[in-house]
Amino acid sequence: MALKYIDEAKIAGQKVIARFDFNVPIKNGKITDTTRVDSALPTIKYILDQGASKLIMMSHLGRPDGQINPKYSLNLVATYLAEKLGQDVVLTETAIDSSVKGIINLPKHKIILLENVRFHSEEEDNGADFAKTLASYGDIYVNDAFGTSHRKHASVYGITQFFKNNSYGGFLLKQEVVALMKITDNPTRPFMAIVGGAKIADKIKTLERLLVNVDALFIGGAMAYPFLKAQGKKVGKSLCSDGDYDLAKKILAQNSSSKIVLPIDHIIANSPEAAAGAVEVCKSVDIPDDMIGFDIGPETIKLYQQKLSAAKTVFWNGPMGMFENENFAKGTFEVARALANLNAFTLVGGGDSVSAVNKSGVASKISHISTGGGASLEFIEQGQLPGIQALKFGI
Ligand code: 3PG
Repeated sequence: MALKYIDEAKIAGQKVIARFDFNVPIKNGKITDTTRVDSALPTIKYILDQGASKLIMMSHLGRPDGQINPKYSLNLVATYLAEKLGQDVVLTETAIDSSVKGIINLPKHKIILLENVRFHSEEEDNGADFAKTLASYGDIYVNDAFGTSHRKHASVYGITQFFKNNSYGGFLLKQEVVALMKITDNPTRPFMAIVGGAKIADKIKTLERLLVNVDALFIGGAMAYPFLKAQGKKVGKSLCSDGDYDLAKKILAQNSSSKIVLPIDHIIANSPEAAAGAVEVCKSVDIPDDMIGFDIGPETIKLYQQKLSAAKTVFWNGPMGMFENENFAKGTFEVARALANLNAFTLVGGGDSVSAVNKSGVASKISHISTGGGASLEFIEQGQLPGIQALKFGI
């Protein structure tokens, strides 16, 4: 059965229950990045324009661990959505309390946002009764929550069993799947991937999967040091756990490890708080015993740029250094700029690399910026996600 998208649904006069990923960052009572809500607007507007009788929206925010916690309320999202849509958006008190049906049935309420589904432990436990209650609110189910589709949660996964022929993917989900399939299914070659971040253990499956497919895999960030150490290089006091060192050795022992490209120089200091004057370029691949590597060095940047210039498809996840500190940001920003200048399909996924692309001002030159960090990595590892499979085949 093929995945049906919302443009195949008969929406007029129907109650539509739709899952979005409105998990936005909030600071001092303000949403600091509205990308995830903005990316859902085409689906929301389409459902309304097609004449749905009701639109009931669901989302999680943060990880409230099954407890009601005002800190994780969707109230700011409801206000933002109302502004964007120019219509009232009613936020329910909880997702499943007895008043929800009454609110849905009141003619004056057209757009309803259920309060954070993760206020109920049954959401993450994929509780069947909870999913059934959510399902009872709508005639048609839509999943546009790509960023959450790697979770087997009730509003993403379990709920689909109550909409056998009536579940659809939204436009954002479609856009993400189409983009990621350019990476997973016969990518235009040369296909290169850049993976950074702190720990190999977090991304081991992605690294192993990518190594099968890529023509070159560039490593950056703290996860480069266990690889260098496993090659017998000196890493000083750089982050390098025993577990990551073992994983690096295991990966380097594989035939495909010749595709791995590692830093050849570094930006080092003796502490992350070091003043700019105490930050040095380490021209050698070996880092002195008392120093810590915090970013890739200028020769590594040149090497990565030069090799990347041949790429026709590039996937990037994870920063090249501790880029939140400007002394260690150059490697990450230069990689972002290198991607922006390529004549290639470029896909960036993962919170940190997405924020680096935004901060370096080149976001508009990247072919696709995924709204799902964990979800995009899991899609690359597995070639599918549970939430999307459930839309296709049910559970
Ligand atoms: C995300 O931010 O990656 C998604 O919203 C999923 O959130 P989670 O990691 O808490 O499940």
